[in-house]
Amino acid sequence: MRELLESLRSASRQAIDQAVDMEALESLRVKYLGKKGELTAILKQMGKLSAEERPVIGQLANQIRGELEAELEDRKSALAAKMQELRLESETLDVTMPGKEIRLGKKHVNNTVLDEVLDIFVGMGFSIVEGPEIELATYDFDRLNIPANHTVREWTDTFYITPDEKVHLRCQTSPVQVRVMESMKPPIRILSPGRVYRKDEIDATHSPMFHQIEGLVIDKGVTMGDLKGTLNTLMQKIYGPDTVTRFRPHHFPFTEPSCEMDVQCFECHGRGCRVCKGEGWIEILGAGMVHPHVLEMSGIDPEVYSGFAFGVGLERLTMRRFQISDMRLLYENDVRFLNQF
Ligand code: PHE
Repeated sequence: MRELLESLRSASRQAIDQAVDMEALESLRVKYLGKKGELTAILKQMGKLSAEERPVIGQLANQIRGELEAELEDRKSALAAKMQELRLESETLDVTMPGKEIRLGKKHVNNTVLDEVLDIFVGMGFSIVEGPEIELATYDFDRLNIPANHTVREWTDTFYITPDEKVHLRCQTSPVQVRVMESMKPPIRILSPGRVYRKDEIDATHSPMFHQIEGLVIDKGVTMGDLKGTLNTLMQKIYGPDTVTRFRPHHFPFTEPSCEMDVQCFECHGRGCRVCKGEGWIEILGAGMVHPHVLEMSGIDPEVYSGFAFGVGLERLTMRRFQISDMRLLYENDVRFLNQF
């Protein structure tokens, strides 16, 4: 029996040493130490031994059981450590690696300038309104005093939608003036930004679609002085307090008198250079006192009320503000360009 025990001892030792995982260890434990295990099987034969041999073999068997248990434990912790090591290796997180960049969108430079303009006018008590881009000739032309034979009503100038020339893509934001006069009672102070469409060839300063911002003020006793004060405030807020402006007489069918506003060239301060094409001044917007007939057509008594209106090109404001020389850059959506602003 001693030999049996000794061979179990060396066989089990070897097997435990070679066990590669916890399951293998567990089945070895069952194999050697379990109720139906090899050690138990040997001990069952103790009855055959003599009285002198029994305690000696019993002691040896207990010793082997103790050894086996200890070896199983040791091997178990060795395997656990090894597995932990492997897991750490496979789950390595290199905190020095660069993170994944989450790209945030950015406000388009046109919107940056538009928001500035809206802020300035909201600060002066204006409300912001919007009008439709598909407009009726009634609003865009007739009630703005634009006669049937005016060039803007030609098919070569305007994108018509219906052949009867009653519906088209608006060519200015001025029809919003009429819509507002129709739906609001004076005093009126509104600003209306939006897209407009004209059959223009695309070049550095033209696009068949661009943006205008329309302004309209109607109240008792509104004068050209209010117009100049309001527009000078706008220019000084967006181009700086030293901005020099001038108002030139002009003609629009829906304002009388009408004017255009120029901003002195920021590059040459009026001397004339490449930026202002030698003019010294840069035309920035059209404006004027709302024509009495336009007021009348919308049910506002020109004997009681007067008002001023203006329309400014947003792209033009943006280009001057950030010294962008080509309008196409605003629409090409090259993020390398747009991210600069
Ligand atoms: N609608 C005119 C244009 O597009 C600008 C303008 C607006 C002029 C309001 C006077 C008053 O050129």
